[in-house]
Amino acid sequence: MYQLNYHSISKSELNYNELNHILENAIENNSSKNITGCLVYHNNRFVQILEGNKSDVVQIFEKIKLDQRHHSVTLLWENDIDRRFFPEWNMAYHQPKNSNLIQFINNLLLLSEFSDKTTGSLLSFWATVKNILSNKQ
Ligand SMILES: Cc1cc2nc3c(=O)[nH]c(=O)nc-3n(C[C@H](O)[C@H](O)[C@H](O)COP(=O)(O)O)c2cc1C
Repeated sequence: MYQLNYHSISKSELNYNELNHILENAIENNSSKNITGCLVYHNNRFVQILEGNKSDVVQIFEKIKLDQRHHSVTLLWENDIDRRFFPEWNMAYHQPKNSNLIQFINNLLLLSEFSDKTTGSLLSFWATVKNILSNKQ
């Protein structure tokens, strides 16, 4: 199995519905290919980790790279894995409506502290989540 982490910048600020549209599409496609992972969006920045069969992950990433809703798609890390780290998440986490934003950020920062970081992709994913949430470049 294979794991890949990238980050990118959204073309414009996405509203709740636009983000949900991306997520619903991702969940549908990913579950049919048994791809799991996590997508975080905040301040126009995306970071995503994908895991599954190598050919499926690479194929999805090729599609994602061409997506006009974001740019500067940068591969941060890719590595083999012998088990899934997001087994129940065919795509999780996105920025909620503004009222929950502070709680969302705090929960995710807490999660980033305690999450497994035993692969390169996990390490770069959680480091980037932290940077995005604390508005670092
Ligand atoms: C930031 C971002 C993350 C995305 N993540 C996924 C994903 O995990 N899986 C997926 O199938 N599509 C994802 N997409 C959408 C793809 O780029 C593409 O629109 C979609 O796979 C096309 O689906 P279709 O072949 O069913 O039309 C993402 C798009 C963006 C902008």
